[in-house]
Amino acid sequence: MTRHPRRALRSPTPPSASSLSRAQPQEGGTTTERGLPTRKATKELSRDLAGALAPGDLVILAGPLGAGKTFFVRAALRALGLASNERVTSPTFSLVHEIDVGARRILHADLYRVSDPDEVRVLDLEAQREGGAILLVEWGAPYEAELGGDALLVELSLSGGARRVKLSASGPKGRALFDRIHRPA
Ligand SMILES: Nc1ncnc2c1ncn2[C@@H]1O[C@H](COP(=O)(O)OP(=O)(O)O)[C@@H](O)[C@H]1O
Ligand SMILES: [Mg+2]
Repeated sequence: MTRHPRRALRSPTPPSASSLSRAQPQEGGTTTERGLPTRKATKELSRDLAGALAPGDLVILAGPLGAGKTFFVRAALRALGLASNERVTSPTFSLVHEIDVGARRILHADLYRVSDPDEVRVLDLEAQREGGAILLVEWGAPYEAELGGDALLVELSLSGGARRVKLSASGPKGRALFDRIHRPA
């Protein structure tokens, strides 16, 4: 399996628009960054992403403990129609939760406890993705190749109480998802 090269084009100036969907990426760029000052801001971005997801997409959530990875996934699942009484927690021990919502099959994984790429391979997530499942993977960045590559990377950061997010894409599906978030249909 080949890993798609990650392009790391960055805007020379930080985006100033208050909504990511209004922040235009640099022409040809596949990276954008903004602050997430409130839970509402995170939910709005997550909702935009949820509306743009297509079968077979891979979204990797990165960032330290408490950065908001599970919060982001929970908001996306709610936006897709998951009932509020269905709990969404990090699958830290089971590694993967399968959630069918509407016509979509979402696999929510948390690879924090994984230390060997073989542990990811046996989960067969790439094959399920090829079958149309959408993967939302916390702590998935070290295992992008085992997940099939071609991802949208959502990097959440927390520094001195300030939360930020950086989105970047690798491969054609990741890039198409990135573009759909910026230019919703
Ligand atoms: N702007 C924000 N975006 C996301 N989470 C936030 C924000 N502000 C506060 N929080 C809180 O931060 C915590 C993030 O926890 P969680 O999503 O479990 O982190 P992770 O999965 O990255 O370890 C939640 O309790 C959430 O309510
Ligand atoms: Mg988590």
